Amino acid sequence: MEIIKVKDSTEGGKVAFDLLEKEMQKGIKVLGLATGSTPETFYEQIRNSDLDFSNMISINLDEYVGLSSDDKNSYHYFMDEKLFNHKPFEATYVPQGDAEDLDQECVRYDKIIEENPIDFQILGIGRNGHIGFNEPGSSFDLQTHVVDLTPSTIEANKIYFDSEDQMPKKALSMGIASILKSQKIVLMAYGESKADAVKKTVQHEVSNDIPATILQKHDNITIIVDEEAAKYL
Ligand code: PGA
Repeated sequence: MEIIKVKDSTEGGKVAFDLLEKEMQKGIKVLGLATGSTPETFYEQIRNSDLDFSNMISINLDEYVGLSSDDKNSYHYFMDEKLFNHKPFEATYVPQGDAEDLDQECVRYDKIIEENPIDFQILGIGRNGHIGFNEPGSSFDLQTHVVDLTPSTIEANKIYFDSEDQMPKKALSMGIASILKSQKIVLMAYGESKADAVKKTVQHEVSNDIPATILQKHDNITIIVDEEAAKYL
């Protein structure tokens, strides 16, 4: 694991952008993308750049069950706003949260990932050590699946909804088996609320209880942390 300590999320976004630019110069094709507050500075860097994504494909990690792509709280909408409306891609994929048959949607999504192996995967991390919406206890062998969100995740994300009742309690998530197949992974973590999860990701024995610990087994991962998130390292 390579760990890069930065001053704040603005610098972190720049570092992640530089890593991406370097990989794109080498000719990578498929990006694995994440939502949430963490990658916002990274997307800002991309929006302000002249980097061309018209030959690139993106595959997002997850989506809330029940939300359509034009719902303002959906991750699809987030991606449109933060990136896709600004930078045209050859193709972009986000799990369909309002699919009628969720199992079939998981199969469809796995086929997309299989046909477009991910070169460069962006990750945030949950306070409980989740990656994507692979919550504690998730098997490392899973591909795309339906997840019951944990109280910790509901607590962290409910602020984006008008009320907790409106926040979906289930999500579709790419599985850890798929994440681990990415050629390169860049995980970003900012703020004190992530410090414990970051410490465990790096130092705890690999355990399903802290899903991000499995990243210790990946041979090309960079972790970008600000001073607060790195405080126990
Ligand atoms: P955040 O979420 O970037 O909004 O903190 C990260 C995550 O839960 O994976």
